[in-house]
Amino acid sequence: VTQNTAQAVPATPTLPDAQTVTSVKHWTDRLFSFRVSRPASLRFRSGEFVMIGLMGDPHPETGKQKPLLRAYSIASPAWDDELEFYSIKVQDGPLTSKLQHIQPGDQIILRPKPVGTLVHDALLPGKRLWLFATGTGFAPFASLLREPETYEKFDEIIMTHTCRDVAELAYGAELVASLNDDPLIGELVENKVRYYPTTTREQSPKMGRITTLLENGTVFEDLGIPPINAETDRGMVCGSLDFNKDIKVLMESFGLEEGANSDPKHYVVEKAFVG
Ligand code: A2P
Repeated sequence: VTQNTAQAVPATPTLPDAQTVTSVKHWTDRLFSFRVSRPASLRFRSGEFVMIGLMGDPHPETGKQKPLLRAYSIASPAWDDELEFYSIKVQDGPLTSKLQHIQPGDQIILRPKPVGTLVHDALLPGKRLWLFATGTGFAPFASLLREPETYEKFDEIIMTHTCRDVAELAYGAELVASLNDDPLIGELVENKVRYYPTTTREQSPKMGRITTLLENGTVFEDLGIPPINAETDRGMVCGSLDFNKDIKVLMESFGLEEGANSDPKHYVVEKAFVG
């Protein structure tokens, strides 16, 4: 078959840094996850975030469109050949009001400049790794829970996730449940992950904010482990601003110090994407 490309029908205009949506899953009326193609050149460390988005509405006078971008943690591990994201849907949110309608085959913008502090490089070695998430703050941990280095560096991983209701735990619960049988990392995981989900506005086996349960010692009692201390324990935190602030105070009260890429220490914090 010969094709004269010069006379071919013009292709659908593509976005700058366009990637193609491969699947979308809606978890609740507030939450969805989706996967997109991965640029061959994109390298990132599990736990990092990138800027993603869509073209905004045309300017009323000039008709020009500007990209509408937000920071999103990559929820897939560094070895995956696609990229996964986990998002809230805000009905009047500039981006998520549109993003929630994407379908397989659609394009999104993905700026290929991954950054972030929720990475192994920012933590000193330790025995036990705590991953503290609220809401969509689970996303970077969905990446780190599928990252081999997590299991090479730590004997035990405690994944806590606080959500308003049980349905909002589903994305995380399903991911954690899949780890032991994962063909690629199952052998490394070896039952090292302890999952500690809590809800605050709907009845579930464990109720309450994780901050309260850490403060009053319930978590340690439930898991049968000693309280957090700087010698053995490391932490990664991802949630709302208030949550991050409250957990920081708690981590410091346990004697842990905040680390950074250039200065690895005991715990690291990142704000989850909101609105
Ligand atoms: P709560 O229901 O008591 O506000 P959201 O959906 O608003 O992002 O919240 C996700 C979860 O995080 C909710 O269960 C919420 O509890 C909890 N949360 C919000 N702020 C904090 C905080 N400062 N410390 C601990 N948990 C928090």
